[in-house]
Amino acid sequence: MTPPRGLNALHLHQGHPDFLDLPWHLPLEEWRPELCSRLVEVPRGLSRHTVVFVSYGAHIYALKELPVSVGQREYDVLRGLEERHLPAVTVVGLARVRALGEPGDEVAVLLTQYLPSSLPYRVLFMNKGLARYRERLLDSMASLLVRLHLGGFFWGDCSLSNVLFRRDAGELQAYAVDAETSELHPKLSDGQRELDLLIMEENITGGLADLAAMVELPATLDVYETAPSIRQRYERLWAEINKELTITPGESYRIHERIRALNELGFSVGEVDLVASGDGSQLRMRTIVTDREYHRHQLHNLTGLVAEERQAALLLNEVRELKATLTREVNRSVPLSVAAFRWLDERFRPTLSKLERELGPAADEAELYCQVLEHKWFLSEQAKRDVGLEVAVKGYVALRREQPALALLRSASAPLPGVEARAEPPPAATPEAPPAPVARG
Ligand SMILES: Nc1ncnc2c1ncn2[C@@H]1O[C@H](COP(=O)(O)OP(=O)(O)O)[C@@H](O)[C@H]1O
Ligand SMILES: [Mg+2]
Repeated sequence: MTPPRGLNALHLHQGHPDFLDLPWHLPLEEWRPELCSRLVEVPRGLSRHTVVFVSYGAHIYALKELPVSVGQREYDVLRGLEERHLPAVTVVGLARVRALGEPGDEVAVLLTQYLPSSLPYRVLFMNKGLARYRERLLDSMASLLVRLHLGGFFWGDCSLSNVLFRRDAGELQAYAVDAETSELHPKLSDGQRELDLLIMEENITGGLADLAAMVELPATLDVYETAPSIRQRYERLWAEINKELTITPGESYRIHERIRALNELGFSVGEVDLVASGDGSQLRMRTIVTDREYHRHQLHNLTGLVAEERQAALLLNEVRELKATLTREVNRSVPLSVAAFRWLDERFRPTLSKLERELGPAADEAELYCQVLEHKWFLSEQAKRDVGLEVAVKGYVALRREQPALALLRSASAPLPGVEARAEPPPAATPEAPPAPVARG
């Protein structure tokens, strides 16, 4: 007789375990540590479906059980988000599990990569002392929505549990999880964006009201004002990137100014439209922004390195500094690509090899290098002169050796409440801790 449960099919992307040792003969809600030693607990948001987390070495995966058609849809949308390089969790595979009694006698299990060092907004908002991050947190959420909308993603369920955030070289970066209700389009209409904003407002206000009934919310997180404030930030950013300027033909520098201003915000400009207006003495300029990964793309083109947007912006600053130094040395302009090559060869790679010898392999090389840069600024600020990379590496290694937990916690995710890959229940760490020695200011 066929057992009532078991794997029917497993579609997996390369580079991950095969997951065959998991107890597929049981529904996810019956998986227990006694049966499956891979189960781990991580801070998580509220969910409709059963979601469990399993670890394979340092890698954690999220598994979510849902009806087959819904699972396939979410899988497809997450794949699409990945192709469009939008900030969301990365899908790893989809299992079809025989489940007698379920519609079609089958359920799906969606497998995604656990987003390391991330927390859902809901968990974060349960911590007091959040006041000083409020602006940045709300900005990150608004900017996530802008990026997703620019990429043609209609979410349909933006909420405190479905937005994850993590630190990216000192900035907060928000990511989408849960694309069950989502759709990908070539372009969103204003109506679709408006609907998504309404859903966001309703979810966030509802989520905050729910939290307020359980814990005392930080005074700055008003149940009724927070969601409208996210919308305002969204609208400001949307208007900024879609702004039309009127210029006269002699003012072509303003085109570059505008592109630079958008690049500063991290947006790449795909096209610039210039249309003559009125009697032809003026031009209307419209820039078409493609994504918020300007620095990421630039770093990748120059060095082949893959980093997050903020990390890339920091690393590029170092490349530019080196370019200036080289230019002074040879007394003629040095192309950025030459500086990037030298930087990779003389700074980035040797520093990381040194760090690997001292501290072991790093999970996120770009982040580690950025932490060393932060430490360099900290030391330089104290010394009132540039202490140089070598001193910073030594200092950083010493700090990590002395207080490994502190260095990790404080630099990778602090001063926000930190989560390690193998995170325990929601962190009790208070974000009011004194500034970390490696943090800037
Ligand atoms: N890949 C992932 N990385 C980090 N957290 C995740 C991941 N997948 C799910 N979670 C956590 O689990 C929670 C529930 O997952 P979700 O996909 O939103 O399920 P549901 O569709 O039931 O709401 C999320 O709020 C999030 O905290
Ligand atoms: Mg969810």
